Amino acid sequence: MKTLPDFDMVLFGGTGDLAMRKLLPALYQQVKAGTLSAGSRILAAARKQLSREAFLELAEATCRPFLGESYDPDTWRSFADRIHYFPMDVQSGASYGALGERLGQHPDRVRVFYYSTSPDFFAAISAHLGATGLITADSRVVVEKPLGHDLESSREINDAVGRHFAERQIFRIDHYLGKEPVQNLLALRFGNVLFEPLWRREWVQDVQITVAEQLGVEGRGDFYERTGALRDMLQNHLLQLLCIVAMEPPTSSDPDAVRDEKLKVLRSLKPFTPQDVVTKTVRGQYKAGAVGSRPVAGYAQEPGVAADSRTETFVAVKAEIDTWRWAGVPFFLRTGKRMSDKLAEIVINFRQVPHPIFGGADHTSRANRLIIRMQPDESMRLYLMAKQPGDAMTLHPVNLNLDFEESFRERRLEAYERLLLDAIRGKLTLFVRRDEQEAAWHWVEPILDSWAASEDRPKLYTAGSWGPAGSSALLSRDGLAWNEED
Ligand code: BG6
Repeated sequence: MKTLPDFDMVLFGGTGDLAMRKLLPALYQQVKAGTLSAGSRILAAARKQLSREAFLELAEATCRPFLGESYDPDTWRSFADRIHYFPMDVQSGASYGALGERLGQHPDRVRVFYYSTSPDFFAAISAHLGATGLITADSRVVVEKPLGHDLESSREINDAVGRHFAERQIFRIDHYLGKEPVQNLLALRFGNVLFEPLWRREWVQDVQITVAEQLGVEGRGDFYERTGALRDMLQNHLLQLLCIVAMEPPTSSDPDAVRDEKLKVLRSLKPFTPQDVVTKTVRGQYKAGAVGSRPVAGYAQEPGVAADSRTETFVAVKAEIDTWRWAGVPFFLRTGKRMSDKLAEIVINFRQVPHPIFGGADHTSRANRLIIRMQPDESMRLYLMAKQPGDAMTLHPVNLNLDFEESFRERRLEAYERLLLDAIRGKLTLFVRRDEQEAAWHWVEPILDSWAASEDRPKLYTAGSWGPAGSSALLSRDGLAWNEED
């Protein structure tokens, strides 16, 4: 990869979890790869009163476990040379002076403002950057989710940021779009002729999108109480994955061509009536159990969580897309914390052969499947029926590994690496446009409203399981089963 021209990146929330776990390690990897020029600067800003040296020490100690074997002291030193630290209260205009002076040294550079703070501060930061004249034509802002907790609050945040940045300068990050298998799915669909003719209701029986985590709320009980699985994962990550699966071929890979198609999918999602919420959604909350062989507490016993909490840590929905291509094809989405496995995958189940000619039903009952896996490994597998060696015509499912790992030896970029590079380069294709985000909120709101109005509580599931029983029932009503149950 080519070295990028010098740029400045301001990391608000520079001492926070995201900066330490994802952003600084991603930037480090790019120093190692030679992509970040020696003159580029990372200006970390946070409330803590730290000297530059103290910040660098903290950053090295905190990031190191996330760098694994790629850590080496020389590269770290070279990375650290690019980092500066600004202790500041982002809400007070007075503290933008020093930052402004530093940015003013290079007025013509690309400036990336990364908001990795609570969204409560987005309006104030944008207003102060605007008032102090720090937003140049070549500036961009990267905003992290959660952008609001419903349609209205997301509009407020988008308005506040949009008062100072044009839409073409706003990079709403959804790190699932930065994952290599997700982009490979785009390549598979739109770089080949093989799948597109089959990619429709005539040949696809159902689609399953699962993001299961073994982790719990990891000390974020407070945040999670206000969020829940639907807002934290489904409204953004899972719906974006659904868009990539279901979108029509865009006319080009230009940001708006791609995002227009994703928007059409979101706007074609069948709205939920209150009755649909009862029959087509399942919410759960984990109780004490064991993940792997480790005993873990229930959600309601986590610090910061109310003992009678109604927050869902699991959600499954049956989504339907009202278009000629997808009418009648269920898209099952599910995500949960403290599940049996760490697993993120998209399963496309194709229909059965119309007329089996080989032997008993057992041999032909497993139809073709394409599985795009993001976790625990990154792979793409196509399941086909093949003849088992021997003198009988016995069919057996085999899989073609379309992983390309054999073909491409390059190191794969972490999602945040890819997305940070795109933000620096100004490439918006893998970022979410405002109308997409609002369409996603618009679709999930009736679920949130019905849940809030209902007396029912999330169904308890044992930590380390696949979620509440209702999750399997959601599919079995259509005569289907989740991939791992099949
Ligand atoms: C984040 C959620 O957006 O995604 C977290 O806020 C979740 O709750 C995380 O753990 C999962 O990301 P990944 O890439 O580890 O699957």
